[in-house]
Amino acid sequence: MLYGVLLWALLSGSARAESDTAATGDEALIERGRYVFQAANCLSCHTDFDNDGKPLAGGRELKTPFGSFITPNITPDPETGIGGWSDEDFIRALTEGVSPEGEHYYPSFPWTAYRGMKHDDLIALKRYLDQLEPVRQKNPPHRLKWFVQRWTLGPWKWLNHEKKDYPGRNTDRGAYLVNVLGHCQECHSPRDAIGRLRLNQSFRGNPDLEAPNIRNSNDGIGGWSNEELNDLFTDGMLPDGDYVSSKMAEVVDYATSNWSEEDRKAVIRYLRSLK
Ligand code: HEC
Ligand code: HEC
Repeated sequence: MLYGVLLWALLSGSARAESDTAATGDEALIERGRYVFQAANCLSCHTDFDNDGKPLAGGRELKTPFGSFITPNITPDPETGIGGWSDEDFIRALTEGVSPEGEHYYPSFPWTAYRGMKHDDLIALKRYLDQLEPVRQKNPPHRLKWFVQRWTLGPWKWLNHEKKDYPGRNTDRGAYLVNVLGHCQECHSPRDAIGRLRLNQSFRGNPDLEAPNIRNSNDGIGGWSNEELNDLFTDGMLPDGDYVSSKMAEVVDYATSNWSEEDRKAVIRYLRSLK
């Protein structure tokens, strides 16, 4: 928790001087972008915490059954980051999973959830990222199993096309925070053999990631009070007084603890609707 706060101090400190941001315009837009950035937890995967990596400079190893993904640098450095990207490049990456060079991204980058992002949120997020300190850092390539190759992503996307109506797009705020920005299903729903989310089993947990069922039923969070859920999202405390561990601790630190009270309520209302 404390680490999260320190990191935030570092990140906001690294934003360029105010006169500079004024020149690029709309403070309110940047502020909205910061909120989206936190709710979507871009920080976690793109920062190599274990090796004191600079925020968003990438290099974090994400271990999966398909091998290790090494996250890229998404600071505004024009050479090693995404500094040279247009708004269109950025939107295409997050909503179609396609790079400026036309290559497909692996779904270890949860664009599969972010594709439901509202246009205004995408623009705000880009403005926020644009004014952060660029970091020059080139990261090593992914280390994937032999059968995991970028060319397979075209067919993968085609096989996944029925998932276009990922729940959360154009629906209520809670669903948007959970399914799109928070990409909660990426950990809390099981996957099939080729790594597609099994949406008919949504939120029923993913044993590979030790992520529990979070539906509003007896085997999920049905027995939790709203206050207990609120405590978890605010500071990571579980009903038994213990604190969440592993990946969820990061989700709380960097994402859910930054939700406004209104957003927390919207999320809890949405989770309650998942019987
Ligand atoms: C669960 C981990 C994870 C999260 C959360 C995540 N990313 Fe990523 N991101 C990745 C990985 C892994 C890749 C590399 C994908 C590939 O090589 O195909 C990536 C790639 C990218 C790229 C492409 C960079 C390039 O050089 O081509 C951009 C841009 C990006 N992410 C931005 C974001 C933003 C913005 C957010 C928050 C809204 C975010 N990411 C959240 C894991 C993540
Ligand atoms: C990166 C993976 C990941 C993401 C993303 C994620 N979670 Fe979790 N979550 C976990 C893991 C792992 C646990 C178990 C932690 C533990 O037992 O200490 C957990 C635990 C929980 C619990 C407690 C359940 C219980 O029975 O103890 C709730 C509620 C929860 N998550 C809700 C959410 C919501 C809502 C989101 C989206 C905003 C979310 N999670 C996003 C991995 C994740």
